[in-house]
Amino acid sequence: MSAMILDGKALAAELRAEVAVSSKELAERGVTPGLAVVLIGDDPASKIYVRHKERAAQQCGISALDYRRPADVSQEELLTLVLELNADSSVHGILVQLPLPDALDATPILDAIDPAKDVDGFHPDNIGRLAQGRPRFVAATPKGCMSLLAKANVEIAGKNAVVVGRSNIVGKPMAMLLTNANATVTLCHSRTTDLAAEVKRADIVVAAVGKVDAVRAEWLKPGAVVIDVGMNRNADGKLCGDVQYEKSLAIASAITPVPGGVGPMTIASLMQNVVTAASKALAQQEPG
Ligand code: GUN
Repeated sequence: MSAMILDGKALAAELRAEVAVSSKELAERGVTPGLAVVLIGDDPASKIYVRHKERAAQQCGISALDYRRPADVSQEELLTLVLELNADSSVHGILVQLPLPDALDATPILDAIDPAKDVDGFHPDNIGRLAQGRPRFVAATPKGCMSLLAKANVEIAGKNAVVVGRSNIVGKPMAMLLTNANATVTLCHSRTTDLAAEVKRADIVVAAVGKVDAVRAEWLKPGAVVIDVGMNRNADGKLCGDVQYEKSLAIASAITPVPGGVGPMTIASLMQNVVTAASKALAQQEPG
């Protein structure tokens, strides 16, 4: 039997349409959701991601405000920009595209973002709230992965989930979300001694490593659900994930393709967060 393909492109389009409706309602109440997109330097991949985010924002009725600075911008200038955006009431969400150039330290910059505008969900307040099971903003990629699982009616409670990769952006928040959804979660990383053995026990596998073939098809438990966050190029220059996709089709019960799986869900989830931020800001303004 061949695995069900978890179509992130289609689900993301549905979610963006919902966001557009919410955005229109907010506009009718006098608030156009605003997303400030900060891009430092000219990393080619970051430029593409930012373009996709800004295009999605436009489609959703969100005003995307572009803040580009050269790679040699100082830490102080960037910090000042973030503080200005915090104080700007037309900005409901602030996104600082990562990675920053090597000369800049991302941590104090992300820490300076108002947690109520932290639509990336990277601020320690928001990570802490997620860890405690009372999330405010959840990072867009893991949020999108959870939406894909929900759409496919994948049961999570009581299942063994293995997350491969412990980044702050994906792996750690993903492990927290699955824990909050009552899975038994194992978070694997570069120092895991027997990754194959961990993956073999998994009912749900989330791969977020950034390496071709990081998860081999023969490791999968028959019927496993596979969420592939990787976005790599193989030896032929073709886009591919972290999991051996073709071979996994015969083993997994469901799998995300790359491209067209998690990628579009990240952007749609970010748009959901922006509209949530705008709607909370409006609720604070409106009396009663
Ligand atoms: N770089 C890679 N993924 C992301 C993301 O989700 N948000 C930001 N700000 N930067 C990223």
